[in-house]
Amino acid sequence: MSPPQDIAGSLARTVSNSLSLSTSPTLAFHSPPTSFRAPPPGSYNDGRSGSVAAPFLPSKQLKPFDTKDIKVLLLENVNQAGVEILKEQGYQVEALKSSLPEDQLIEKIRDVQVIGIRSKTKLTERILKEAKNLIVIGCFCIGTNQVDLQFAASQGIAVFNSPFSNSRSVAELVISEIIALARQLTDRSMELHNGTWNKVSKGCWEIRGKTLGIVGYGHIGSQLSVLAEAMGMSVIYYDVLTMMGLGTARQVTSLSDLLEQADFVSLHVPETGDTKNLIGKTELETMKQGSYLLNNARGTVVDIPALIEAMRSGHIAGAALDVYPNEPGGNGDYFTNDLNTWTKDLRSLKNLILTPHIGGSTEEAQSAIGAEVSTALVRYVNEGITLGAVNLPEVNLRSLTLDEPNSVRVIYIHKNVPGVLGQVNRVLVNHNIEKQMSDSRGDVAYLMADISDVKEAELKDLYESLEALAPRIRTRVLY
Ligand SMILES: NC(=O)c1ccc[n+]([C@@H]2O[C@H](COP(=O)([O-])OP(=O)(O)OC[C@H]3O[C@@H](n4cnc5c(N)ncnc54)[C@H](O)[C@@H]3O)[C@@H](O)[C@H]2O)c1
Repeated sequence: MSPPQDIAGSLARTVSNSLSLSTSPTLAFHSPPTSFRAPPPGSYNDGRSGSVAAPFLPSKQLKPFDTKDIKVLLLENVNQAGVEILKEQGYQVEALKSSLPEDQLIEKIRDVQVIGIRSKTKLTERILKEAKNLIVIGCFCIGTNQVDLQFAASQGIAVFNSPFSNSRSVAELVISEIIALARQLTDRSMELHNGTWNKVSKGCWEIRGKTLGIVGYGHIGSQLSVLAEAMGMSVIYYDVLTMMGLGTARQVTSLSDLLEQADFVSLHVPETGDTKNLIGKTELETMKQGSYLLNNARGTVVDIPALIEAMRSGHIAGAALDVYPNEPGGNGDYFTNDLNTWTKDLRSLKNLILTPHIGGSTEEAQSAIGAEVSTALVRYVNEGITLGAVNLPEVNLRSLTLDEPNSVRVIYIHKNVPGVLGQVNRVLVNHNIEKQMSDSRGDVAYLMADISDVKEAELKDLYESLEALAPRIRTRVLY
């Protein structure tokens, strides 16, 4: 596939109609989420585009009007699945195994349109100011706090990540923990490692027929629901949204309902003001005598000193923690009271599984992250689609097709101030605007328009006229 081209930076062409999924608690969607994102343009060899084009019409491969090659810098050993997706687009990809010292990073970032990083590379305002050609950042990980998102948005640089590619890995870990807790597996293993044979059945249970209470029925919670039912568990769940249960899982109306009924309580909520200490002393007391608590969500969701008390009293028979309020930046002997003041007490408890935030750490998740982020980068570079962007509004249009040879996609990232639409449309006035979409997020707005009957000679004028408007942050013209 030939590389995309764009007028001022490097842009490509194909617009789409693909799914827009969000898990925002403010949205009233009623089915458990899916992690599906449409594949990039060119993923199919039967003429379909990755984004949904008009029926039976192949989508047109867009390119930036100034036909520069797309240069991509990938740092920190991005998974090969992701590297291949970018190479298949014809982009010039430089993939490095490690992060770069700041001076070398600045040198390299000046030249590229796309950068892919993981968690070690900090993209600060100072570095991004040097990134004159950069249009998009891919965080090949879950978190994005290593990037100055607001400054990136103010420069019209989109940022993508992969929040849900490891959902299955987390759900599988939880299943293993439920069984391990019910059978006191880690205690028996630890004892035998220390030379003690301790064959017991008291307080050890099958999980079949027990009730699992899932708090947060999103990407992970809903996957877990299916796996747990397959193991013969009854599943109930509580979520701030009303959601359709999978299988025979049943939604309950309050957290306390769930806590009163569940033998195992597994937490899968995001870290927000509302979820801080969601499970504290009162909630632990509401849980059934001899029940189990699992937290693979975020460390702040559980009041850990209260959990220590509840386990010491025997009210809670076991727990699994994968996440902590403070976590070290790297591997080593850091799980001490210096990190969290109660660490020593926690470590002394029986039937407590402690893991170092490995819920999503599998080979499969890494590969899925590579594919998902690269796909988002390709769609943004080639089509300007911002679905899944963490710092720009999510905007999408259906793809331009091959029967629209003289159509052009205009992407105009601008300050969110009154009157911009009018100004832009005055520039576009001599063309038919086939479709247009605009949305804003904070101080930045994103406009996408497909206009027809544009001659190649007009592209430069069009671009320069849009660039000359005061609210402009970045203009891209794909043809
Ligand atoms: N341990 C790990 O390695 C690991 C890996 C991935 C994700 N996570 C964490 O797991 C958690 C869940 O991830 P996800 O991908 O399923 O998220 P998600 O956004 O798909 O689902 C979260 C669900 O929680 C619900 N929710 C929000 N606030 C709530 C509240 N106060 N009470 C009840 N429900 C509430 C939402 O409506 C949503 O359905 C997140 O905290 C995420 O950071 C941990």
